[in-house]
Amino acid sequence: MRSYSVESAFHPCDEAVIATNDDASDCKRCAVRLGYWKDEYIGYFVRSSERKAPEINRGYFARVKGVEMCVEKFLKKTNDKCQIINLGCGFDTLYWRLKDSGHNIINYTELDFPTVTARKCYTIKRNKALLGKIHAEDGEVKLSPTDMHGPNYHIMGVDLRNIDELDNKLQQAEIDYKLPTIFIAECVLVYIEAQNCRNLLKWLAGRFESAVFVNFEQVNMNDRFGDVMLNNLRARGCSLAGIDSCLSLETQTSRFLECGWSGSRAWDMVQVYQSISPSERQRIEHIEMLDETELLTQLSQHYCLAVAWVGELFQDIEITVEKRMSSLNID
Ligand SMILES: C[S@@+](CC[C@H](N)C(=O)[O-])C[C@H]1O[C@@H](n2cnc3c(N)ncnc32)[C@H](O)[C@@H]1O
Repeated sequence: MRSYSVESAFHPCDEAVIATNDDASDCKRCAVRLGYWKDEYIGYFVRSSERKAPEINRGYFARVKGVEMCVEKFLKKTNDKCQIINLGCGFDTLYWRLKDSGHNIINYTELDFPTVTARKCYTIKRNKALLGKIHAEDGEVKLSPTDMHGPNYHIMGVDLRNIDELDNKLQQAEIDYKLPTIFIAECVLVYIEAQNCRNLLKWLAGRFESAVFVNFEQVNMNDRFGDVMLNNLRARGCSLAGIDSCLSLETQTSRFLECGWSGSRAWDMVQVYQSISPSERQRIEHIEMLDETELLTQLSQHYCLAVAWVGELFQDIEITVEKRMSSLNID
């Protein structure tokens, strides 16, 4: 297998962008340890993490649940005859969690910078609990320092700004462009320059016959709270090259429509949180007390979940989500 030249593709901010995965993984690890959701696998990738503020833990809970809700709807609709492609996957563990809940989809592919995928591959190789689930099907696992190919799991190092390289990698993963496919991007597009992001979204919309895109990231970035968030990230060396699409729910959806996706909807994380079942919300609200909820509300108003689709099969994915949201908003 060909390994990827890490240095040649680097932009000045990539180091800082890659480090955002450590932050996200740390936060997920902390929330899991406190019992916000179950994840037996994140601990292999992050051994220990500092305790985070309750607002952060609740924010991550809504983020993980929101993405999961979309994925579950998609799996139900396709009866698992589908592909999942996680763009900028970091150390996300959804592949293993889905396996544990009995899902066996046709192809699960993860993509990130080679520096990140090399660390993920190394950890998977060293831990039976992770590797065993990839082996579980009959068949061998092919490895390079940055890439791994199992029977239905693939992880590969690639810069998502390089479409030729991406095309090549998806072919190595035996992605079938005719099969229903869901893309997940959790806090990834915001780090990609607007033109590169448009190229990526256009290419995906043109290449896949039937696809759904689930995008979690910042929104409402043009107010004072947004300024503070941006300055914090910039102080850590992240340029936030894709911030122009994070100004409002409207800019989040129009980006997809302008790039050839047939439809798109977006909700801020206050709405997404309200769409989670009341019993589940009650459970996690008892894990840690919040003296006041203003900061959590402000944070939640500055992140969103946007869904876009290509092809007719998933036209109603937004309606299903919305119905659930409005019915729960009445509570
Ligand atoms: C904030 S982290 C999120 C990781 C993971 N999605 C999660 O939520 O746990 C952003 C991830 O996007 C990846 N990323 C950003 N720009 C990328 C690019 N141009 N190509 C590949 N990966 C990229 C980073 O390396 C990092 O792992």
